[in-house]
Amino acid sequence: MPLVNTVEMFKKAYEGGYAIGAFNVNNMEIVQGITEAAKEVKAPLILQVSSGARKYANHTYLMKLIEAALIETDLPIAVHLDHGDTFELCKSCIDGGFTSVMIDGSHHSFEDNIALTKKVVDYAHAHGVTVEGELGRLAGVEDDVKVSAEESSYTRPEEVEEFVKRTGVDSLAIAIGTSHGAFKFTGEAKLRFDILEEVGKRLPGFPIVLHGASSVIPEYVDMVNNYGGKMPGAKGVPEEMLRKAASMAVCKINIDSDLRLAMTATIRKVFAETPGEFDPRKYLGPARDEIKKLVKNKLINVLGCAGQA
Ligand code: G3H
Ligand code: 13P
Ligand code: ZN
Repeated sequence: MPLVNTVEMFKKAYEGGYAIGAFNVNNMEIVQGITEAAKEVKAPLILQVSSGARKYANHTYLMKLIEAALIETDLPIAVHLDHGDTFELCKSCIDGGFTSVMIDGSHHSFEDNIALTKKVVDYAHAHGVTVEGELGRLAGVEDDVKVSAEESSYTRPEEVEEFVKRTGVDSLAIAIGTSHGAFKFTGEAKLRFDILEEVGKRLPGFPIVLHGASSVIPEYVDMVNNYGGKMPGAKGVPEEMLRKAASMAVCKINIDSDLRLAMTATIRKVFAETPGEFDPRKYLGPARDEIKKLVKNKLINVLGCAGQA
């Protein structure tokens, strides 16, 4: 099966009350762990690449790894640019075979965000590629840009219809209180489901995207801390909140930090237990297995997309 864009998978996800997992990929073991899990449970997938991932691993290497996964799994897979910040970056990814791009103009004014997003949509749609826009601003770190809690802002539901209509985007990322990275909440986790509900009412049938959706799984944080790491206070989005979002208008749930945590915790454990180990396969292999286990659980028990491929 060739790579797909997100049109069909979001339509089915919206109607079925589940969400597609959008997992960030940076190397072979991550691609394999995610796609082997999806194959076993027959789930559609979005593999997303940030500009940092593209710089780290190289566009062609990542595309070829994803093409290999396509051959191995025969699943509907979309390859998506995560947090594209310029038209040129989006164009380069579209020209290089991505089937979906995000143009994140959330740090611009409303009018500038519309102008930039529309320019990307016009180019993308002419090439059969779908586009995710963003309104509202998440806190946390993306690449080298750090957004403080004070600079972050919730999505204003009264703006979404005009934004979608004037840009022609295929999906919209909104800010309802999640943030990027492993330190999302200091106290109790709180998400503005009222904003999600209002956005859903204003845009019936339209797919919404949730960024910053790692649960920062406590077992992995404990493992990191028990094997020489230091992540006190790391805290993410509870799984039941993700299940609720998936049953509402959210059709795409972005997960990166949990993959990083699973990988890092596992590698730390291997090194702590076998300090003499120096064969990369002996620590990257278990890390890949742990990513597979983690993703399988997300697909079945959190996103609800198992069996939907
Ligand atoms: O939203 C950010 C993702 O976790 C990607 O992170 O830009 O460090 O690759 P990155
Ligand atoms: P997490 O940091 O919560 O995994 O969010 C990832 C994300 O939103 C990628 O765009
Ligand atoms: Zn994000």
